[in-house]
Amino acid sequence: MTLPSTGTAPRAASASPLELVAEEMVLVEKRILELSTSREETLTEIASELISSGGKRVRPALALLVFRAAGGGDPTDVIDIGAALELIHSATLLHDDILDSGMTRRGKPSPLARHGVGRTLVTGDFLFSRAFGVAGRFDAMIVGWATDACTQLCEGEILQQRYQHNPEVTVDAYLQVAEAKTASLFSQAARIGAHLAGSPKGLVDAMYRLGYEIGIGFQMVDDLLDVIGPEDLIGKPVGSDIREGSPALPTVLGLPHLPALRAAFLAKEPDRAMIDRAIEELRDSDVLAEVRSIATGRIRVAREQIQLLPPSEFRDGLDQLSAMLLERTA
Ligand code: FPP
Ligand code: MG
Repeated sequence: MTLPSTGTAPRAASASPLELVAEEMVLVEKRILELSTSREETLTEIASELISSGGKRVRPALALLVFRAAGGGDPTDVIDIGAALELIHSATLLHDDILDSGMTRRGKPSPLARHGVGRTLVTGDFLFSRAFGVAGRFDAMIVGWATDACTQLCEGEILQQRYQHNPEVTVDAYLQVAEAKTASLFSQAARIGAHLAGSPKGLVDAMYRLGYEIGIGFQMVDDLLDVIGPEDLIGKPVGSDIREGSPALPTVLGLPHLPALRAAFLAKEPDRAMIDRAIEELRDSDVLAEVRSIATGRIRVAREQIQLLPPSEFRDGLDQLSAMLLERTA
């Protein structure tokens, strides 16, 4: 399937940077649907419940915008790899809910809540296999980068478990977890987009850094939203990170001087009242402003990388996307 390059046609200023790659995103969606369909209806059903539940598709969008901004032509390959990255992301969410006992995902009962551990686990394996069926057809460099992302995702999960309910967690440890569990896929998505556009190594590396910084900033905003809510916007109970004893940034920064937060973080199964007290304490403190300021710094570095691209509407779109990820409320 070949699309004409959309790089040169004049276009009205868009409300969302995603509109710049809207045609390609439709094809990403179609590819995701094809790849998540199995002859076993149960797999198709569970995969579809998650995939059609309103994910932001940030990873394929990032790959596509970088590809276009770097002057890429035929988008067929970047559409394929974008779909594969989204499937890897979906597989991790299925497995993550099992590990976290996450019963709500994107505002609905999670696949785990609806179908139990066994089927959720195997659906994750299915999506992961389908993703690698696509990613494995690319050159060795791309296969290696996709593999690195998956390896890091697994390592990030184990590292995170080491710091769960663990008061020795530091900001450095937090950053290592955020790099592995979130920045890994973002950085590879942006790097692959540049590589497929035929960019020189310097630009491919800069786009890796762009994805890396966006990924870290994205995770920090996620952590912030977990405290701010509200539940109907974030699609899960407020304070889930505290309930899980997860080393989220507000927790890491607040632990040394917020006693209710510390008590809830250390408790293996904090009750709702403990979690609410910890949230109130966090909201009354300077911690949330500090988290936002650190995330803003990360997005600033991301935007510096964007300036290394030649001027275009896609470069502007990337800049806008970075700003939107910082300001997002869901
Ligand atoms: C969400 O974190 C979890 C991840 C981003 C990664 C989880 C990774 C694994 C389970 C390893 C499996 C890897 C593969 C390749 C299948 P969170 O719990 O902080 O976010 P949430 O609030 O969305 O649950
Ligand atoms: Mg989780």
